[in-house]
Amino acid sequence: MSETAKLELDGKSYELPVVTGSENEKGIDITKLRAMSGYITLDSGYKNTGATESAITFLDGEKGILRYRGYPIEQLAEKATFLEVSFLLIYGKLPTRDELTKFKESIKKHTLVHEDMKQFFTAYPAKAHPMGILSSLVCTLSTFYPESLNPNRPQEAVDLTIHRLLAKLPTLAAMSYKNAMRHPTMYPNNDLDYIENFLFMMFAMPTEEFEVDPVVANALNVLLILHADHEQNCSTSTVRIVGSSQANLYTSIAAGISALWGPLHGGANQAVIEMLETIKQDGGDLEKWIQKAKDKDDPFRLMGFGHRVYKNFDPRAKIIKKACDDVLGKLGIQDPVLDIAKKLEEVALSDPYFIERGLYPNVDFYSGIIYKALGIPTEMFTVMFALGRLPGWIAQWKEMIENGEPIGRPRQIYVGANERNYVPIDAR
Ligand code: CMC
Repeated sequence: MSETAKLELDGKSYELPVVTGSENEKGIDITKLRAMSGYITLDSGYKNTGATESAITFLDGEKGILRYRGYPIEQLAEKATFLEVSFLLIYGKLPTRDELTKFKESIKKHTLVHEDMKQFFTAYPAKAHPMGILSSLVCTLSTFYPESLNPNRPQEAVDLTIHRLLAKLPTLAAMSYKNAMRHPTMYPNNDLDYIENFLFMMFAMPTEEFEVDPVVANALNVLLILHADHEQNCSTSTVRIVGSSQANLYTSIAAGISALWGPLHGGANQAVIEMLETIKQDGGDLEKWIQKAKDKDDPFRLMGFGHRVYKNFDPRAKIIKKACDDVLGKLGIQDPVLDIAKKLEEVALSDPYFIERGLYPNVDFYSGIIYKALGIPTEMFTVMFALGRLPGWIAQWKEMIENGEPIGRPRQIYVGANERNYVPIDAR
């Protein structure tokens, strides 16, 4: 007999089905709860609420496990390429050599963006944050491909939109950087692979020879893989909920980029470096900053610490920390900010406040230091996160559409005024 949960309410008893995932994760299915009892559940921040059944990413926050489609993140980060992982997330299986070649060729065909899109850049101020530009321009792509407005098209047509997005996001990201620098745009070089081409568009100049540094390209490959999916986080849930209204893929991804921008989510990588720089300029008194982070009356938080689901360690941070040492060593970079980061980690990890609350360095704590070493400017850090997260967002959107999931529409408990009569303005 299948497992059920018993709920007693107002002297009545309700049986609710228990759902078990493939890793033995348990959930109580409350889809019929309101119809049966008139009650809803309340869960601010969705800390205990599963919004979907998903076959993409498995994460165990207590054990520090992260797997894409069953494959451990450690193996993928060490052995795979970002596009191979993208294929895996989106299509559910590792590609054969032939499938990967076709996937790469299709993406290469779409790396250019329409020339008219360049005109938008002339209107953005030089100090425009690249995340604002990226989100707007990804939404704008939908206006260039009106046929993509319907998300329920044959697989081939949907694949074209998916490949266009994967191809064009690095181009748009690099264009927004060049715009900030007021440097000429570098068009994609399709002789290069995905990551090399991105580095080319970011750092090459029309007047100079450019060679991709393999240390930089390899580090970026690992970083993008580590960011590629993370199940139902804030930006991914945003993509799914926007997409659930049958909005098109471009605009669903644009919404995800906006959600990622916040400093409690992807924007933390920029905030970490800014925090470390501030601590350095302030004289490096770590105790003072730790105290500030612990003080409930002070809004300051240690950026790059803590995670909604990881309470022991973030497996991505473990891999990144090692990659960080490797990259800085290979590039011969001595970064005083890294020394502060290491000391901060030590002090925080031995402090009962952080231990009791399970606050450990997360993926963003070290990624900013690597991006800095790779020559990527601070305001572009969250854009790098978006480039990495793109295949995950696409895979989650595709799964949601293919499963025919209903429109996302949470309920609420109303706590406002009871009914009262309108009072004319002179009588108030
Ligand atoms: N510094 C100091 N105290 C903290 C921090 C921090 N970074 N993070 C959480 N706390 C405290 C918090 O004040 C609370 O204390 P108390 O129980 O005494 O009220 C307790 O720890 C639990 O925190 P919470 O805010 O209820 O936890 P949450 O799951 O809602 O928030 C978080 C998770 C990641 C938003 C939060 O830890 C945070 O703000 N961290 C800093 C921002 C950051 O690094 N974000 C990147 C996350 S990793 C990238 C990604 O996947 O998005």
